[in-house]
This record gives sequence, C-alpha cells and structure tokens, in this order.
Amino acid sequence: MRVLGIETSCDETGIAIYEAKRGLLSEALYSQVEIHADYGGVVPELASRDHVRKTIPLISQVIDNSGLTKGDIDGVAYTLGPGLMGALFVGATVGRSLALAWQVPAIGVHHMEGHLLAPMLEQSPPEFPFIALLVSGGHTQLVKVEGIGRYQILGESLDDAAGEAFDKAAKMLGLDYPGGPVIANLAQKGDSNRYTFPRPMVDRPGLDFSFSGLKTYCLNTAHAAKNEEGQIDEQTKADIACAFQDAVVDTLVIKCRRALKQEGLHRLVIAGGVSANLLLRQRLKEGLKKVRGEVFYARPEFCTDNGAMIAYAGYRRLAAGQSDGLALKVRPRWPLEELASL
Ligand code: KG4
Ligand code: ZN
Repeated sequence: MRVLGIETSCDETGIAIYEAKRGLLSEALYSQVEIHADYGGVVPELASRDHVRKTIPLISQVIDNSGLTKGDIDGVAYTLGPGLMGALFVGATVGRSLALAWQVPAIGVHHMEGHLLAPMLEQSPPEFPFIALLVSGGHTQLVKVEGIGRYQILGESLDDAAGEAFDKAAKMLGLDYPGGPVIANLAQKGDSNRYTFPRPMVDRPGLDFSFSGLKTYCLNTAHAAKNEEGQIDEQTKADIACAFQDAVVDTLVIKCRRALKQEGLHRLVIAGGVSANLLLRQRLKEGLKKVRGEVFYARPEFCTDNGAMIAYAGYRRLAAGQSDGLALKVRPRWPLEELASL
C-alpha cells in the first residue's frame, strides 16, 4: 500500500509518500517562514493563499521523485485538524478531490497524532505503551499511549504552549520567528550563571504546565536589561536565551519523569517542533536515568511540521480499514482523545 500524505495545517506545506514495504519513498517541504517573518507570527489568510499556490506543484514533484505515477497511489491522507481553518481546507480539499479522482480511499489525519507517530519512521521505533510529550507551537501535552488512537491526556498547558513561549520570548529579545531554533542557537553563547528563571508549577503535584509566568519573567528581565536607547546587548540576549531555555527544558524534564513514574512506564516519546531541541534531548537522557527511562524522537526535520508524519499516520489507519467519506470538512479544534482506536 502506498499513501500520499498532505500537511497544510499551519505555515508549512508538507507532502510525502509512504509505502508499506519500503517506508518513506519521497517527501518535500515548503516553509512559509519568510512570508510571515515581518509579522512575528503566522498570518492565517497569507498561509491559506500560499498553500493554494504550493500544494499541487509539490504533490507533482513528490510523485515524480518517488519514481511512481499517480496510478500507483493507493490512498490519500491529509491533515484534518487541529490547525488554521483556511490552511486546513486547502489540504483537505486537494486530498479529498485527488482521492475521488483516483478512486482510492482518503483519510483525515489528526496533526498531533502525526507528530506522535513520527518517531516510528526511525530505525528503532518505540513499542506501545509509552508516554508521549507533545510539544509544538500550539500544544504541550503529556499523553499515555497504549496504541494508535488509544490516548489519555495526563497533563497539558493551562496557558501558552512550550513552542509558543519560545516564540514570544524571541520576540521580546527582538529575534526572528520561529523563536525556538533561534533561542536554542543563541543560548549556546550564553552564560548559564547570569540569570536563573523560575521553573513553573514544578512544586505542585500533577502533570499540567503553565508558561505564562515564565514569559512575564522573561519580559521583565529583558526590560530591565535595556540600555538608555532601549537596546539589549548581544551577550545579555544570549544570557537571557540561555536562562529561558534552561527553565523550559527543566520543567519539561521534571514533568516527563513524574509521568513515567506515575504510570509505571519506561518509554518516553517526544514529538512536535520543540522536540528538535538538543538541550531537551540531552537533559532527558540524563534526567530519566533514575526511572530507567528511554527517550525516542524523530530526526529534526520530522519533529517540526512535515508531510511524512501525515502519510505514515494515514497509512496506519487506512491499512486498518479506516477511511473518511466524501463530505469535505476540517476540525480546527479536535481533542486527541476523540480519535478512534485501531
Ligand atoms: O510542530 P511544529 O512545527 O508546528 C506546530 O504544530 O505548532 O512546532 C513549531 C514550534 C515553534 O513554536 C518553534 O519555535 C518550536 O516548535 N521549535 C523549537 C525548536 N525548533 C522548533 N523550540 C525549541 N527548540 C527548537 N530547536
Ligand atoms: Zn505541528
């Protein structure tokens, strides 16, 4: 079985073909980052329009590069939600229509399930059950995963998502969007002893997160560090980036360890854009030794949005006999726990 995957939920157009026997055959990603850069965040209408321009040419390119023809595709998977309504509609409309024209089944995939399953595209995939830390621009969740579609949310952010906090902290320091990779880069030059930021909610029981207090702390620190011209010197920016990243990473590690302990599990999957963060990977490796925890993640380009994760998640569901009807719909909000199990 060969499945074409289409991701258009936010600001990347991601297309891929996954085959049951050989795995990933071809994939391509077009990022809209430059279009949104001047605005410091994603502008939904600009995102939709650009997906309209890019989706079909990118599908043709991916099919050509795979050495297949459209007649070789056995199913189409597209992101149904959560995400930006207009952006989702582009992928859903193209995906559903192609499936109809090619007379193959189609399935709408949950974007976060795509992220969650992305580590299964790697050499040594995790076995069920495991705890998943989903950390993206819109979500921060700890999920107990017993199988595909068998998800129990153990904790989540009560306010900003971890990625969103990175993006906002970057904005406060006058850095580019998306802020996560920029902060991570700059933090390498930072002095970790200069500032210590709070670790939110770690002294309270439970597995929920909150990043808004940390964000305010960052804003106040940045404000206090400004010179008379309202500028922050480069070294201070790096020191703040370092303290901020440290606090977010520490908080995530503490909660992951707590979740594994609470559920008596030893496997942790990290997924979503923030799971590309090298400090997070390194600190988890060290921090989970006590609970004999093993960490699984996707290669960096499959941590952020991509078509491969949608092709793979769609393949798993189509191969199990699931598919969606002809009605065209999207789910901008879609709780993970509502998904059907395989
Ligand atoms: O999963 P993703 O590509 O899109 C959503 O589904 O939201 O995640 C994007 C988020 C952004 O907030 C970005 O700043 C963050 O992931 N991110 C990172 C890193 N790479 C991307 N955060 C921290 N460290 C990184 N290396
Ligand atoms: Zn995502």
